[in-house]
Amino acid sequence: MCGIIGVTGDTDALPLILGALHRLEYRGYDSAGVALVVDGEIWRERVADGKHSVAALAARTTAEPPPPGHAAGIGHTRWATHGHPTAENAHPHLDCTGRLAIIHNGIIENHAALRAELVAAGHVMTSATDTEVVAHLIEGHMAAGLSLAEATRAALGAVRGAFSIAVAHADEPETIVAARRSTPLVLGLRDGVALLASDIPALLGHADQLFSLGDDELAVLTPGHITVTTLAGLPVVPEPLQITWDLEAAQKDGYEDFMSKEMHEQPRAVANTLLDRRGADGRLALDEMRLTPDELRRIDKVFIVACGSSYHSAVVAKYAIEHWVKLPTEVDIASEFRYRDPVLTERTLCVGVSQSGETLDTSMAMKEASRLGAKVLVVSNVVDSSMARAADGVIYTRAGLEVGVASTKCHLAQIVALEILGLTLAQIHGTLTPGEIAGILDEMDRLPELVEQALQRSVEVDDVAGKLTKARDFFFLGRHVGYPMALEGALKLKELAYLRAEGYPAGELKHGPIALIEKGTVVVGIATRNRLWEKMLSNIAEVHSRGATVVLVADDGDEEAAAVADHVLWVPPCPPLLSPVVGVVPLQQLAYRLARLHGHDVDRPRNLAKTVTVE
Ligand code: F6R
Repeated sequence: MCGIIGVTGDTDALPLILGALHRLEYRGYDSAGVALVVDGEIWRERVADGKHSVAALAARTTAEPPPPGHAAGIGHTRWATHGHPTAENAHPHLDCTGRLAIIHNGIIENHAALRAELVAAGHVMTSATDTEVVAHLIEGHMAAGLSLAEATRAALGAVRGAFSIAVAHADEPETIVAARRSTPLVLGLRDGVALLASDIPALLGHADQLFSLGDDELAVLTPGHITVTTLAGLPVVPEPLQITWDLEAAQKDGYEDFMSKEMHEQPRAVANTLLDRRGADGRLALDEMRLTPDELRRIDKVFIVACGSSYHSAVVAKYAIEHWVKLPTEVDIASEFRYRDPVLTERTLCVGVSQSGETLDTSMAMKEASRLGAKVLVVSNVVDSSMARAADGVIYTRAGLEVGVASTKCHLAQIVALEILGLTLAQIHGTLTPGEIAGILDEMDRLPELVEQALQRSVEVDDVAGKLTKARDFFFLGRHVGYPMALEGALKLKELAYLRAEGYPAGELKHGPIALIEKGTVVVGIATRNRLWEKMLSNIAEVHSRGATVVLVADDGDEEAAAVADHVLWVPPCPPLLSPVVGVVPLQQLAYRLARLHGHDVDRPRNLAKTVTVE
């Protein structure tokens, strides 16, 4: 998830672009850049300065300003997915002539194949990004005589994946061409000026009229004019947007808080984490994982280590890896692992899971694992986080920047990334056939749609939450992968609604905690169908008969489950090992709504920090 801005016409482009990038920093900030068309040339400046990249870019362009008299300009603030967060990988990217500049938000799925073809044809790449290939594709079509717009249209015909792009060219100094597929892009107009941006906040106050660009549409911006066509070339009348939001509301995309915005971004976070994982032969090939198949073949044990919600993703992965790969898999809380003399050898794969990649407990646990000789792999949402840099290998979740303190989209993306790791190990160890792996990947490709369906039931979840406002004690129960889902549901409720909530394996309840169940205790049970479903319903019947109010997460239409519940949170059914990706959604929504009903700030829960860098 990156932020993009473009402007052409009668305005001072540079300050407008820098101001817009500042407003888009919630989309990412690991590097930033700007390109202007000045005197028939492209002028460009880029910096990579961590959280302060936009400020550093502003300082640099003040110290070394562009020559006066520029026409079109484009700017970008980056949250790295392909390529490290360095100045070389920062956008805008140029073609071989240096006369074309491009910015991009999204992921080009077939970038590796395109890069190979372009390099073979003599193009020189100067970055490790997926984006740069599009610059060179357009360059090729312009060399054949096409205009910037037609060359962009032709280039995008070869591209698979998700993109919002904007392209400027020194030969067409007042034109910007923009296009999108699956990632957002808005257009703006005022007298003598045309603008584009990935999000509305960038354009507030700069445009009199706003329009949305549809999927697979292309816009040509010239001063005061915008022409829109489909990528196939058919004319389109762009849809006007009525915006009554102020800046803060616009940064939340109209949602009341970042948490609900990020919950709604979950289908894309899951889709992006799945993108580009299968090679041309259909086999899994993890781009960024630096461990070789030979190293992974030698692994005889897996440890997964993490904290909080990331730990819950790890517990889901244990079930999947043991089932698919038949490798002993232990999970541990990072702050415990580090001090308990874990038994590791050079044949152990130690996987650290961390959204931030900076959590001190997990980072120190990984150092300890390395010291003990294990191979260390990190699952991180932040490219080049300190854990990612120190590890032997890395898999990135591509959820985009998560602003809300309580993890939502990153938790789902972690489960997906860890399950992709599980399938990769199964491929290398030969414990699943290529057909079985392809079948599971096909099921995973349905997850974004199923998560979307789960999100659409928020009104029903809100209704259930409204009936639980007096409750103070909650148990979350699950079996098999329902157990980590129960842990996650309970954690969300604790940290957001400040309610006592315990996540427990349902079968263990009878060994003690059932003594706490009384009238008024709320039990949230995970009762989606798996081979322990019947046992789960028996456990639920036990608490129901002791007076608990029972809320069940159940598969659509499962009347047998509904019969033992007071309230049901329905989810679309999916294969058991993938079900946490869908079934956690109503648990997030329940915690969110109860927190709101109790009057709490869901983005900044008390006593918590987004990244915990203390012991
Ligand atoms: C809970 C939550 C935390 C984090 C934990 C680990 O909603 O966000 O429990 O999961 O602090 O953080 P990372 O994943 O950054 O290591």
